[in-house]
Amino acid sequence: MSGPSDHPSEVKTIEWRDGVVLMIDQRKLPLVEEYVTCTTWEDVAEAIRTMVIRGAPAIGVAAAMGMALAARAARALPRDGFERALQDATKGLFSTRPTAVNLGWALAEMERIWRDPGPAPEKTAETMESRALQIYEDDVASCRAIGAHGAELITVEEPVILTHCNAGALATAGYGTALGVVRSVFARRPGLRVFVDETRPFLQGARLTAWEMLHEGIPADLITDSMAGHFMSKGMVTHVVVGADRIAANGDAANKIGTYTVSVLAKEHGVPFYVAAPLSTVDFAIPDGSHIPIEERDEAEVTHFGGSRVAPEGVRVRNPAFDVTPARNITAIITDRGVVRPPFEAGLRRLAAGSRSEGSDPCVQ
Ligand code: MRU
Repeated sequence: MSGPSDHPSEVKTIEWRDGVVLMIDQRKLPLVEEYVTCTTWEDVAEAIRTMVIRGAPAIGVAAAMGMALAARAARALPRDGFERALQDATKGLFSTRPTAVNLGWALAEMERIWRDPGPAPEKTAETMESRALQIYEDDVASCRAIGAHGAELITVEEPVILTHCNAGALATAGYGTALGVVRSVFARRPGLRVFVDETRPFLQGARLTAWEMLHEGIPADLITDSMAGHFMSKGMVTHVVVGADRIAANGDAANKIGTYTVSVLAKEHGVPFYVAAPLSTVDFAIPDGSHIPIEERDEAEVTHFGGSRVAPEGVRVRNPAFDVTPARNITAIITDRGVVRPPFEAGLRRLAAGSRSEGSDPCVQ
């Protein structure tokens, strides 16, 4: 992994260019817009682990591109060596971050291709590259569909949406999930305002969501996480929209630490709480959120602020990166195939099976 490289003409989260992967370095935003260049799958794994790229869908796209790099590097090997190399890359990429289901999903998509013994490795490598690019394109399309479905739910003239973390263009191949809804609502209702939780400890809200909102001219107020209840109690928040890293079959949803707290506050104040995510974020293999692995990250994220220590040396620290919002706190899940309301399992399974719900609005269950 090296950086900075030449600057693409427009800000892109991730891009496949002539057999290398470019990523905007999200650790440095918003102060510096710098790109890193990944030439090997190990570079991509390092970029995911160190949060150069983050956000569940973007991690999935990066992993797919990482596998395409691995296949390219190994394409001259005989089949058994080729498969061994791809197995190593799969393991290495899978071990980077445990919570986002999109990572395993993308690796499984690529594995289906490289396990096929028919084509020669050279041909398989080409197919994997095309599939990685397709996953990228599909993700942008999913986000736009999520945005359109979400906008149909938010019909007040001057909505005020509170969001947590960054589920925006930077967390996806483009447009965003929760922020896809925000973008889509803003296009229809210019009176929209957004409350952006800063999202301790990694500050995805303060650094990334605030940056995206400013870039697009969407009116937004940055608040610290502990202010959300204050504004809800004053009736100043009309909707909460957040993303998800993994949704269990029953609708329990893992997202950035602090999301659960926001859901409890929303319930207390009667504010609709929406989770926006592509259907590929639903893990039907797990019945509920207690099975979702929660990543614990470096304690320095908690003890330090902007690189400076703020807590005493030697203090014990906990740093779970995600929490689980129970399905009972979620008003609806906005997917790329439509909106699902409780009880979630039947609706999610119906969407996954390809059928949409019935009624006057084909997208809303
Ligand atoms: O640790 P991060 O920054 O990868 O966490 C990201 C989130 O929690 C997002 O809300 C989630 O991945 C959805 S992104 C569309």
